[in-house]
Amino acid sequence: MQLLQSILLALHILGLAAIIGTFLVQMRKDDGFAVNLVLGGAITQVLTGIALVGVGEAALDRDYNMIKIGVKLVLALVVLGAAIAAVVAEKRGARVKPWFHVAGGTAIVNVLVAVIWR
Ligand code: HEM
Repeated sequence: MQLLQSILLALHILGLAAIIGTFLVQMRKDDGFAVNLVLGGAITQVLTGIALVGVGEAALDRDYNMIKIGVKLVLALVVLGAAIAAVVAEKRGARVKPWFHVAGGTAIVNVLVAVIWR
């Protein structure tokens, strides 16, 4: 189970890299955003985050702070919603940039929550 938890954490880090890496590279652009990569990262964050809590609590005797987890989940759902809105906006030819910035900025806030709130 420890190996599974480690794999989930690695995927969690790769998911945040997909969102924030894409954001940092493209934040000064006005179009041509890699919105599908951000959406994939956002889905990865929600799924791996929930799985980390489930496996940790059920099999590894972890005792996560559920208020912190709840805050992270809400922020991750904001990232996911903004990523979906960005994909939809791109398909409709509408402005993508505001949604792209909400997704990237909120993901950065979630990193700060993850590492500062102990
Ligand atoms: C954009 C979304 C997210 C970002 C950027 C993010 C970021 C991070 C980072 C940087 C870490 C490693 C530092 C640490 O161990 O505290 C981490 C770990 C973790 N995250 Fe997230 N996270 C996100 C979403 C979520 C969600 C939605 C959940 C749960 C519902 C979650 C649950 C966890 C758990 C359980 C750990 C592992 C803590 C441990 O046992 O070491 N995360 N996250």
